[in-house]
Amino acid sequence: MQSCSFFFFLNHFLYFCSTMAKQEDLFKNVVSHAKEYGFIFPSSEIYDGLSAVYDYAQNGVELKKNIREYWWKSMVQMNENIVGLDAAILMHPTTWKASGHVDAFNDPLIDNKDSKRRYRADVLIEDYAEKLNVKAKKEIEKAKVRFGEAFNEQEFITTNPRVVEYLAKEREILERMGRSLGNGDLEDVKALIEELEIACPESGSRNWTEVRQFNLMFGTKLGASADTAMDLYLRPETAQGIFVNFLNVQKSGRMKVPFGIAQTGKAFRNEIVARQFIFRMREFEQMEMQFFVRPGEEMQWYEHWKATRLKWHLSLGLGAERYRFHDHEKLAHYANAAADIEFEFPFGFKELEGIHSRTDFDLKAHEEYSGRKLQYFDAELNQNYVPYVVETSVGLDRMFLAVFATSLKEETLEDGSTRTVLKLPSVLAPTKAAILPLVKKDGLPEIAKQIIEDLRWDFNVSYDEKDAVGRRYRRQDALGTPFCITVDHQTAEDQTVTIRHRDTMKQDRVAIADLKAIIENEVSMKNWLMKM
Ligand code: GAP
Repeated sequence: MQSCSFFFFLNHFLYFCSTMAKQEDLFKNVVSHAKEYGFIFPSSEIYDGLSAVYDYAQNGVELKKNIREYWWKSMVQMNENIVGLDAAILMHPTTWKASGHVDAFNDPLIDNKDSKRRYRADVLIEDYAEKLNVKAKKEIEKAKVRFGEAFNEQEFITTNPRVVEYLAKEREILERMGRSLGNGDLEDVKALIEELEIACPESGSRNWTEVRQFNLMFGTKLGASADTAMDLYLRPETAQGIFVNFLNVQKSGRMKVPFGIAQTGKAFRNEIVARQFIFRMREFEQMEMQFFVRPGEEMQWYEHWKATRLKWHLSLGLGAERYRFHDHEKLAHYANAAADIEFEFPFGFKELEGIHSRTDFDLKAHEEYSGRKLQYFDAELNQNYVPYVVETSVGLDRMFLAVFATSLKEETLEDGSTRTVLKLPSVLAPTKAAILPLVKKDGLPEIAKQIIEDLRWDFNVSYDEKDAVGRRYRRQDALGTPFCITVDHQTAEDQTVTIRHRDTMKQDRVAIADLKAIIENEVSMKNWLMKM
């Protein structure tokens, strides 16, 4: 009996190890593919790079721009009551006092005395809780296999003693952490780490320092002379640029509540645990929208934006099973409700976007610190008030990672050979079509270049004449180009080309005159946004 259970656990352990190893390999592939194919480079690499700072290369910048545009169109162009803004990164320093960032934008840090490594205390606890969740999921998966079609997942989750215990323990830990952090009780956060016997991932020891708060804002100076220079911060979120412009936009745009202001731009955080490639960076880009509503109506708008934002993500077709909501236990200093849209990255489910009901905290605080009224006159109610705010905030770099990592596939083909293909949603692909003359002579390059000249008005297209056409197809697959258009000797005779589809590798013979419509049909933002 004993040896039977030993083998059972050994099997599970080995399965767990091989899954983790596979995920690590997948992630390593993502990072190396991004570099090799000109998507992302480490910043200032010739000087050995700068930790957690990255540059977007020739293809990365196109993919990033397309994600930004896809967001912008869905938020601003498609909503009559949402307008855009591009506020400066540098803001008056009082902004950050009013917003609470000077006093409360902290991470709780803990050091391991043996490895000298520094960790975010909340991340250590969350990782522990996530392991309980993974254990519960494994039980569910096993039961699914055991019971087959008769399996009732909901009933199993609420009645299986082991699953109930894992999930209850997970909840209890997160709730206690949320309470302690909310109350500033850092001693209890340390006590929790000790009670859970969390060890340093590097040294394996439990020799921890106290938990301390560390402010994440980057400071800088404005002005030439050391005596008169003014201390500033690089903005840690784009949202405050929207709040301080709320009345300017409302008045000049004659906006009526409810209305939104959207903005994309850089934000900076001195992240201590900067890891996982572009997932957590020190300089990153946010796509944020503040939606101003009547006080008391914020919860209905909060639910509306949760649902709308999830639909936007789903429209990209990365798979509904990769998303889940996570309601916050620990609320930021400005929120009365908050949820993350989490995405299944190669290293597990993690926050991709935050949806926050920010109350009237920010506008009221700016009123108080600036001495200016930031109120709206609601003609229907014949009343002045400070609007409440529902915010949607998604990291552009995290979106990039979600799309890129999920799209990267190794496929074994019918003939046993393999190909690396980046199955990006075609609306986001950096290059929409590559035009390839079969040979570098007989007038084929000239025809190919003419096709490029015609198509480049509408799409980002590229030309490639180097190597055999099969190798060129593989190169374009790895870049995520949805179409390869090959010009051959028949083209000169009848004005037709072959068009190869990236995902199916199917080839069709079509007229050059039809190319624009064929590509348009597959890549147009309109078609993709209509799926929402
Ligand atoms: N204005 C609200 C706000 O900034 P947040 O949850 O701190 O909220 C919003 O950030 C989004 O910004 C996150 O969901 C994430 O996608 C992205 N983000 C935050 N910190 C980041 C970092 N260090 N690197 C990359 N993206 C980050």
